Amino acid sequence: MNSTQSLTPVITIDGPTASGKGTVAHRVAQILGWSVLDSGALYRLSALACLEQGVDTTDQAAVAEVARNLDVEFKGPQILLNGRDVATRIRDEEVGNLASSIASQQPLRDALLARQRAFRCGPGLVADGRDMGTVVFPDAQLKIFLEADVAARAERRCKQLKEKGFSANLANLMKDMEARDARDRSRSNAPLCAASDANLIDSSNLSIDETVNAVLDLWSKHPASTISPRS
Ligand code: C5P
Repeated sequence: MNSTQSLTPVITIDGPTASGKGTVAHRVAQILGWSVLDSGALYRLSALACLEQGVDTTDQAAVAEVARNLDVEFKGPQILLNGRDVATRIRDEEVGNLASSIASQQPLRDALLARQRAFRCGPGLVADGRDMGTVVFPDAQLKIFLEADVAARAERRCKQLKEKGFSANLANLMKDMEARDARDRSRSNAPLCAASDANLIDSSNLSIDETVNAVLDLWSKHPASTISPRS
């Protein structure tokens, strides 16, 4: 990391599946005029590239090699893999489940580290994921850990899927979410957990706007912030 990068402010937002961190990260970044890093997309892109190249995903060196060679461009809502928009494809359950499974491999995590840190450029970065505050940006100026109880998260996801015209079963969604969270929390490499200096926000009973405001309130109180504290 060079000195400009370490001076560039970062807000990290970590949390379990469907805690709303992606939406909150995008809104906060938009309001501050900062860049955003959706780190989960990089794990999903690695999983998709492995599927498409027929890579044996138990071969950790081969998976890491795929990640190192990813040709990716984030272009507004588009996510281009080798020039092809895969923004919708990487949200498939098949890709998400494979991403969650290979995410426990340390060579893959190492291969994605520099790529994630390269997103840190002025005027600031909002980074969302599982290990943004603990591993990728341990010196972040503000760290958020966004929690929500599993029922609230499953209901949100169910509503989102139905709005997009997909069928969804609440009980199954809740079961899948609990399994994915358990895997993310219990793995030995970069497990999902709050950094010791993270601010916990429970969004179970908060709207997206209220959660965004809670993050902006915390940021406004930081000495590096140029936005005024809210009353
Ligand atoms: O956030 P999203 O659901 O898109 O992430 C897909 C998977 O990638 C997660 O289930 C998690 O296992 C993994 N992941 C990770 N570290 C991150 C972001 C995502 O291990 N920083």
